[in-house]
Amino acid sequence: MDIYFAPLQGFTDYVYRNAYAECFGGVEKFFTPFLRVEDGEVRKKDAVDLTATAPTLRPSLVPQIIASSRDEVDILLQYLVNQGFDCCDINFGCPFPQQTARMHGAGILAHPDKVREVLDAAAKYEADLKLSLKMRLGNVDKKECLAIIDIINDAPLSFVTIHPRIGKQMYKGSVDLDAFADVASRLKHPIVYNGDIVDNESFRRIATMFPKLFAVMIGRGILSNPFLPESIKTGNKIFDRKKYLNFINLLIEGYLNHLNNLEYMTLDKMKTFWDYPLRGVDKKCVKAIQKSRTLSEYVAMVAVGVNN
Ligand SMILES: Cc1cc2nc3c(=O)[nH]c(=O)nc-3n(C[C@H](O)[C@H](O)[C@H](O)COP(=O)(O)O)c2cc1C
Repeated sequence: MDIYFAPLQGFTDYVYRNAYAECFGGVEKFFTPFLRVEDGEVRKKDAVDLTATAPTLRPSLVPQIIASSRDEVDILLQYLVNQGFDCCDINFGCPFPQQTARMHGAGILAHPDKVREVLDAAAKYEADLKLSLKMRLGNVDKKECLAIIDIINDAPLSFVTIHPRIGKQMYKGSVDLDAFADVASRLKHPIVYNGDIVDNESFRRIATMFPKLFAVMIGRGILSNPFLPESIKTGNKIFDRKKYLNFINLLIEGYLNHLNNLEYMTLDKMKTFWDYPLRGVDKKCVKAIQKSRTLSEYVAMVAVGVNN
């Protein structure tokens, strides 16, 4: 089964993706955090993030967009075509109120007319872009998606990724596997499962329950254990200390370069990765890493952490 690396705004930017792909295997597709329209054009930061992706990674890169109108879709998809991309994922799942209040992300799910507008606009680019969708069950109610099944089935999508939560839940509570099974059975497109796969056991549980899946998408599970895709693919729990420390060094090098060699900004950035701590690193050590005052202190504390 294929493994897709989920988009994680604030984490899986180009520096992270490039370093990850250099160090680890097991991922077939990398999704970018969503690109959005700002002041009538593709947000500059998003464009930089997309185009700075290493050329070797480009064939497995899936740019993601967020939009709720024909105009936004046109701006974003025309940009992707101009940049030579051949695929695009559409975000119907972001739960943050800044997005949902504008009928973006999960906020579009309760508005079939908007869903149709976005998918019809995207379908015009079908010849150039392979389209896919990433969705939640709803924003405030898991039944919201049922009213848009036919619209989604009519759209030219190569697959649909379902994260079986509602927007209101954010990332809390449990995933609703019964609702996932129901929605997956109603959709005619190939289905990708996403949500709470954090180790070989949770992967196996999903793969056994849903044998027709052709891929799973994993986010936080890979952030906290970058060896997870390889572990799942081989069936063995893999951890290589040297490889892990090399990854950390590559991230530091990449962020220093991206952040004009500003050590304090790079250090702040590096600390955020410990919001999803590597399994097995004890809590005291995670705290010490998060409190480090210099990059060399950070590296030293990480080396201590992965020793234990
Ligand atoms: C910090 C953070 C940022 C996220 N950014 C995006 C995003 O840009 N696009 C998107 O479709 N999903 C985004 N998600 C959702 C994830 O892609 C994924 O659906 C969710 O984390 C559940 O999968 P997981 O349990 O494997 O992490 C984000 C999630 C988190 C925690």
